[in-house]
Amino acid sequence: MTPYLSSPRVILDCDPGLDDAIAIALALRHLQVVGIATVGGNVGLERTTANALALCDILGATHVPVHAGHDIPLSGSLEHRATEYHGPNGTGSVQLPNPSRPPTSVNAVEWIVETIRGEEGLTVIATGPLTNIAHALNAAPDIVERIAQVSWMGGSSDAGNTTAAAEFNCWVDPEAADIVFRAGLERLTMIGLNVTHTVLLDRPWIDQLRTDINKPELTVFADLLDYYEVRQRSLTTLAGAAVHDALAVINVSHPELLAGIKRPVEVILAEGAARGMTLVDRRPRREPAPVAATVIEWADGDSIRQLIHGALTCGSGSGTGDPSAA
Ligand code: BDR
Ligand code: CA
Repeated sequence: MTPYLSSPRVILDCDPGLDDAIAIALALRHLQVVGIATVGGNVGLERTTANALALCDILGATHVPVHAGHDIPLSGSLEHRATEYHGPNGTGSVQLPNPSRPPTSVNAVEWIVETIRGEEGLTVIATGPLTNIAHALNAAPDIVERIAQVSWMGGSSDAGNTTAAAEFNCWVDPEAADIVFRAGLERLTMIGLNVTHTVLLDRPWIDQLRTDINKPELTVFADLLDYYEVRQRSLTTLAGAAVHDALAVINVSHPELLAGIKRPVEVILAEGAARGMTLVDRRPRREPAPVAATVIEWADGDSIRQLIHGALTCGSGSGTGDPSAA
């Protein structure tokens, strides 16, 4: 199904990744995706790029350009991917078909800069480390004022997941996050673990989704979620799969399903236990500090689950009929 021509036009920067796969499906369904940039994160860049291309094939989006970006964070080194959650290929135990095409380019940063220079008011949705976005802002500070919003899944206003303090996307590339937070963007929205952990897809929901999927090629999304749910339940105390990245898309496509507040946020860069933390100043009655983002603090879980169900079953994605309510 084609999104409305009036829906926001977006660049999606991602590292698929199981929840990134859901984010891609939602974005293609509800937004005008100008193109996809890939970044190294959950797995290496070669895999995130192949996965993005294969997912576009599955979703009938071979017209959407896919540009490969940076594999390694600004610090120059990366000790750890997220294969414990996403499997060695970033797609759990699922082997996606080989993509039908190569990436459109291997210079996502240049593409991001040129695309934003060519069209005012684009939104950037980022569901991985902010490496590409930071490189783009460094190379072309003029693009800052042309961006409508950066909607980023990353950080947390409470606990981390990779370390006690740091969420994975921020932990991978804190310097990049710091650059983005300090860039002076008109609208920067942080969708962190504090809210993504409140929207879970549990086992009965995923089983019902599998039953409801009415196009054979989309069954793969139930397979991806199967793996993700099992891994999250075995590695955390969560009672289902937190599809973090989906919320960064929904923040743009259905902003009424999330609510947040502008807060000062500092990315901790110092070596030590807090490196990669997004320190959110939640003190009341404080004047906003210059480095601020809208920190999402609430999500309408039932409606979000319906929306995801709709996107993966080609249903309406709205109204009643939440499969988890059965
Ligand atoms: C984030 O880290 C990745 O593993 C997920 O894809 C998501 O973007 C959650 O911390
Ligand atoms: Ca991701």
